[in-house]
Amino acid sequence: MKAMAIEAPAKINLTLDIAAKRSDGYHELETVMHQINLADRIKLQVLDHGLRVRSNSAELPENEGNLAYQAAELVLRNFKSSAGLDIFIEKNIPVGAGLAGGSSDAAAVLMGVNHLLNLQVPWEKLMEWGALLGSDVPFCMQGGTALARGRGEILTPLQEGPLLHLLLVKPDFQLSTAEIYRNFSLDQVADFPDTFAFLEAWKTNNMADIAYNLKNVLESVSIPMHPEIEEIKQRICKLGAQGALMSGSGPTVFGIFTSQEETRQAWIEMQQQYQEAYVVSSYRRGDNIGRKEISTC
Ligand code: C5P
Repeated sequence: MKAMAIEAPAKINLTLDIAAKRSDGYHELETVMHQINLADRIKLQVLDHGLRVRSNSAELPENEGNLAYQAAELVLRNFKSSAGLDIFIEKNIPVGAGLAGGSSDAAAVLMGVNHLLNLQVPWEKLMEWGALLGSDVPFCMQGGTALARGRGEILTPLQEGPLLHLLLVKPDFQLSTAEIYRNFSLDQVADFPDTFAFLEAWKTNNMADIAYNLKNVLESVSIPMHPEIEEIKQRICKLGAQGALMSGSGPTVFGIFTSQEETRQAWIEMQQQYQEAYVVSSYRRGDNIGRKEISTC
């Protein structure tokens, strides 16, 4: 029986800027994406025929509405493969949270099926397919830290940078990415990121400047809708974070702390109110997750 397990890490956005709304309905982005060590675990098993998605979470569709299903179908269709596949998703990344959980599952399936069925699809082609599935999927495949432009699929890898100690807090609601973008207006943004300054800070490991330059223009939509997001940011800062920001289209807020111990102390406070609070850090290649760590069982 051919089977494998692969980890699918989440991401946060350290900056997120929008230049314009495009004629195709998407928004032209400039965003720094950073992979973190909070990960789903995907088990793939080859079947004689049929495509099946299962998960331990009641929140995930177990049909073509699931991006992981679409990823497998895309590969199998392109190869006119008669093989079937069972996909089991152990969900650890909160859903509808701005952490690219669904995109990362799809990225893991694309890379996993390619490996498992020995299809030898070139990396560039896999990345193209990833972009068809969703704007964040190519980054989830590449990993690390990157500056993303276009819809989010044009990637410039950045150096590894400092190890970030992070507290994630997701309030008890989900946000729709499409709805947040639909309600975005450049006129409503008071504070744009200085991406160049952020990149300089990243290059020089300057934590004070990294924290100062954490900015996300989508907060101009989500915070008026849900002031709780701003309250969480402020609480995290009061608990000693160097900086705090909403990730992606939200609603998850992350705070950067100077050590794991300080992050844990803040978590002890926040988890009294928030069930979905996590102590995490930057994903490192040495972590036992990510695309380099495909293991066949
Ligand atoms: O690409 P993806 O399917 O993940 O995007 C979800 C939704 O977010 C899109 O349908 C679009 O409404 C919005 N979006 C956008 N501009 C981007 C990325 C996403 O408007 N660059």
